[in-house]
Amino acid sequence: MDKFVINGGGRLKGTVTISGAKNAALPIMAAALLAEGPSRIAGVPDLADIRAMADLMGELGAPVARNGDGKLTVNVTDESQSHARYERVRKMRASICVLGPLLAKRKKARVAMPGGCAIGSRPVDLHLRGLRAMGAQIELDGGDIVASARKLRGTEVFLGGPFGSTVLGTANVLMAATLAEGRTVIESAACEPEIQDLADYLTAMGARISGAGTPRITIDGVETLVGCEHRVIPDRIEAGTFMIAAAITNGEVTLANARLDHMMAVVDKLREIGVTVEPGDSNAVVYAARRLEPTDLTTQPYPGFPTDLQAQMLTLLCLADGNSAITEKIFPDRFMHVAELLRMGADIRKESATAIVTGVKRLVSAPVMASDLRASAALVLAALVARGATTVSRVYHIDRGYERIETKFANLGANIQRVRE
Ligand code: EPZ
Repeated sequence: MDKFVINGGGRLKGTVTISGAKNAALPIMAAALLAEGPSRIAGVPDLADIRAMADLMGELGAPVARNGDGKLTVNVTDESQSHARYERVRKMRASICVLGPLLAKRKKARVAMPGGCAIGSRPVDLHLRGLRAMGAQIELDGGDIVASARKLRGTEVFLGGPFGSTVLGTANVLMAATLAEGRTVIESAACEPEIQDLADYLTAMGARISGAGTPRITIDGVETLVGCEHRVIPDRIEAGTFMIAAAITNGEVTLANARLDHMMAVVDKLREIGVTVEPGDSNAVVYAARRLEPTDLTTQPYPGFPTDLQAQMLTLLCLADGNSAITEKIFPDRFMHVAELLRMGADIRKESATAIVTGVKRLVSAPVMASDLRASAALVLAALVARGATTVSRVYHIDRGYERIETKFANLGANIQRVRE
C-alpha cells in the first residue's frame, strides 16, 4: 500500500493539464457494449477505476486495449457472457452501468448488487424502477440483480429520488432506451455534463436522443448502434481540486483543458470567498493572494455545487477568516474527512448533514488516513498547506480517480513523494 509524504507550506505555481473525466469515461465504456464494431474513445484517464472497468468489459466479451495517449479501443467480440460478478462490482460501483447495455443488447444481465461504500448507503432502486418500467423482469438472486427482457419498450420513466435524480441511474435507463422499441421519456433525469457526454457518444453511434443535459430526455429506439470515435470531456472534479489547491496555497495555477462552463457553481463560490478565476479559451488562471472569506454552501445535483468537491472545499474553508456551514444534500454521511482534518488542527463541528467550520490560522502536519476518493484529495490539500511533513496513507483511494496526482502537484512546486509501505 502506498502513502504520500507531503511537506506543506509552499505556494503552487505553474500549469496543470486536466485529464479526461473518470465519471464520463466509465459509463461510456459500458455503452460500447451496445455497439456493433469497435469504438475508439480518446481522453480516457489512466486510473484504477478505468482499469477495473476494462477488466470487467473483458469478462463480458468486450476486450479493451489502451493505445497510449489516453486512447482506448473497445471491441465486442463475444456476446455470450452477461454476468458482472460481485468481486468486480464490489471494487468499483460504477460497474452497475453495464446493467442497461447488457439488458438492451443481450436481453439478459446478471449484475451483483453493489453494497454501500465509505460515502454512505448507495441504493440502486431508481435504476431498477426505470428498467422495470420499460418491461424488464428483475429479481434478486444470491445478491445479484437478475434482469431479462425479450424486447424493452419505450415509456415514461420518472427518476427523481429522495436526494434528487440519479446520475448512473439516468445513464442506465438512457443506454437501455437507445435499443428499445419506441419512445422513452426520462423525467427528472440527471443533468450532469457526464450524462450529456454519454448522450453525445450514443448519438455518434446512431442513437436518437434529445434533451440530454436537461431534466427531460427523449430517446427514440433504433435497431442497431455502430461503434464510433469519441473524446471524453475534461474532468470537472479534478479541475476543481486543482483550483482549490491554488487557492489554499495562495498560489497561481493555470488549468489547461478545463471546461469552466461545467463548473459555474464552483467558480462562483470560489470568487465569492475571494479567489480570482480568470477564464481563457480552453484554460483558466486561478489565484488567491490573501486570506479568504467564509461562506455557506449546500451540495446539490448539477448545476449546483457538486458533492464530489465538498471535502476539498471544506478543507479550504478550514483556513477562511470566520465561520462557514457546509451542508451535504446528496450523501448526508459523506464527512469521513472531518475526523482526519481535526487531527491537523481544523475546527469543525458536525450537526447531522452539516459541518460548521471555524477558520483557523494554520493547519499542522499529522499522519492521516484516506477513506474515500474525494476525502483523500481533501487530505492532500490540507497537507499542501500544513507546516511540516504530513503522511497520507491508503492513497489507493486517490489512485482510483486522480491521474498521477503527485506528479501533477510536484510539477506545480509541491514537495510530495509517493512511498511504498
Ligand atoms: C455518481 O454516482 C458519481 N459516480 C459519484 O462520484 C457522484 O458523487 C454522484 O454521481 C453524485 O454526483 C460516477 O459517476 C461513477 P447518484 P451515482 O445515483 O450515480 C440516491 C466520485 O467520487 N439514489 O446520482 O452512483 C443516492 O443515494 C463518485 O467520483 C437513490 O436513492 O450517484 C444519492 O443520495 C462518488 N436511488 C443520490 O441519489 C438510486 O437508485 C445521488 O446518487 C440511486 C441513487
